[in-house]
Amino acid sequence: MTDIREIAQLGNPLLRCPAEPITDIDSPESQTIIKALQDTLASTQGVGIAAPQISVSKQIIIIASRPSTRYPQAPLMTPTVMINPSFKALSDEKEKDWEGCLSIPGIRALVPRYKNILITYTNTNGILVETCLEGFVARIFQHEFDHLEGKVYLDNVIDNRDIFSESEYFKFIASDIPKA
Ligand code: NI
Repeated sequence: MTDIREIAQLGNPLLRCPAEPITDIDSPESQTIIKALQDTLASTQGVGIAAPQISVSKQIIIIASRPSTRYPQAPLMTPTVMINPSFKALSDEKEKDWEGCLSIPGIRALVPRYKNILITYTNTNGILVETCLEGFVARIFQHEFDHLEGKVYLDNVIDNRDIFSESEYFKFIASDIPKA
């Protein structure tokens, strides 16, 4: 049976709480959270989700880049569950690009993120994985990682003028205006 949960919206205090590490991946509780995250993300146009977004303050995220109406340019990848993730930047280089969030509907904003990162996480089989991410997928990871620290992407916006309504964002990306 699918387990689709309500997505916590901006203002919900749980989105501002640092999430707890998972200590027992095989427990029924952990497995239930993973299934609920997978089912909830699959029911949306999102490319990632973090457990605090379904009101579970645990360190689990899913990265699931795929082209969609929300992110037409997104690369296609197998959805990946990451438990207790961490990362470090491989260089200081950041780039600004558009983000949105299932917890903040109707808004898009330009956010600077590291272009190349080294990530570490435990997979659903309990294996520690270390890998490099770049570009849009690295961006999704940093966005979801923020959720585990009680942050949202708007916290990283440099200039309020980088915040758009989604309807204006779609007009903007369809236009011929050179994009910063
Ligand atoms: Ni988000």
